[in-house]
Amino acid sequence: MFLNSRVVALVLAVVVAIVTTAFLSLVPDVSEQGLLVTALLSFAATYLLVYITFEFLVFKEIGEIYKVLNKMRKKDFSFIDAGDASDTNNPLKRINREIYTYGVNRNKEIEDLRKLEAFRREFLADVSHELKTPVFAAQGFVHTLLDGAVDDKKVRKKFLKRAAKSLDNLDALIHDLLTLSQIETGEIKMHMEHFDIVRTAHEVIDQLENKVEKKGLTIGFDREYSEPIFVHADAERIYRVLMNLVSNSVKYTDNGNIEVGIETEENEVKVFIRDTGVGIPPEDLSRIFERFFRVDKSRSKEGGGTGLGLAIVKHILEAHETQVNVTSTVKKGSIFSFKLPIGQSTQEMEEEARLELELLEQEDA
Ligand SMILES: Nc1ncnc2c1ncn2[C@@H]1O[C@H](COP(=O)(O)OP(=O)(O)OP(=O)(O)O)[C@@H](O)[C@H]1O
Ligand SMILES: [Mg+2]
Repeated sequence: MFLNSRVVALVLAVVVAIVTTAFLSLVPDVSEQGLLVTALLSFAATYLLVYITFEFLVFKEIGEIYKVLNKMRKKDFSFIDAGDASDTNNPLKRINREIYTYGVNRNKEIEDLRKLEAFRREFLADVSHELKTPVFAAQGFVHTLLDGAVDDKKVRKKFLKRAAKSLDNLDALIHDLLTLSQIETGEIKMHMEHFDIVRTAHEVIDQLENKVEKKGLTIGFDREYSEPIFVHADAERIYRVLMNLVSNSVKYTDNGNIEVGIETEENEVKVFIRDTGVGIPPEDLSRIFERFFRVDKSRSKEGGGTGLGLAIVKHILEAHETQVNVTSTVKKGSIFSFKLPIGQSTQEMEEEARLELELLEQEDA
């Protein structure tokens, strides 16, 4: 049956008119004219009332719901302002908005899943490619040795060294991949502690001094740090962050110097690493934190780079609810920086514990 507001209003108006007239006819002394007027009036009033109610409150909203569903089917989400589902008393309007919000959320989820799927595919391809390179190289050297080169003492050593280097690269790559996945899955928990970041930076600088000297560069702090500066973070992982950032500076600087600076702000400590290196083109700045992304592939690989260093830095800092910032000018150099919450020295912690204990004792007394 074709059901719209007019048909519903007509049927209901006829029923109401019949019922009213029937009842009125039971009353004695009512003229036929009176009955007719009552029937007409009740028909007209009911028809108008029902028609208006259905047309404007029910069918219009149902029509809107259909429109929304249709558009959603066509993946068009640009058409209505969702508004807040709770700001209307009309239940149909509310349903309409709920459907809209549901549709938008589902669509977003699907989009996210698609992106993840693309990312997964790309990542798998990248990993396979990266794994293939050192395996292929080591395989080549070993086979050449087996095919007879092993008899030549000089060649034997050279080839074995090269095979070992390829395998070392492979080991580094697998290690970095594991670290990344463990941080991502939350398998590695951050062990937050209070430690002196100046000392950590010192250790990193000392570790890299040999490499720096070999390249004819200089490395050091931007000023003298006679006092310790405490931060609250995972000491081991922050060492890794600093190591990755400073060794990048060493790797991508040909002449000049590398400077590490630590600034204390209100509740935070800012650490920066400044170099006078090759710099990063602006279009690549947002991509250097992606896995396997390198600006200059050959240069990175020369130094045994896996292209995962900055991705690890980003992940570790995210686990500390902070981030890494970078500014860079090609051929002039780069500055990488990050902030950590300020920490307390052992003395300060002891003092705080003592005060707390005193307070508790006072409360008890
Ligand atoms: N200080 C820097 N100066 C210039 N370019 C940099 C600097 N740090 C990073 N980059 C660029 O960003 C890319 C990504 O760095 P990342 O540390 O992730 O990888 P990598 O150094 O190539 O390899 P890995 O660190 O895994 O050994 C580098 O290949 C390099 O092109
Ligand atoms: Mg690196």
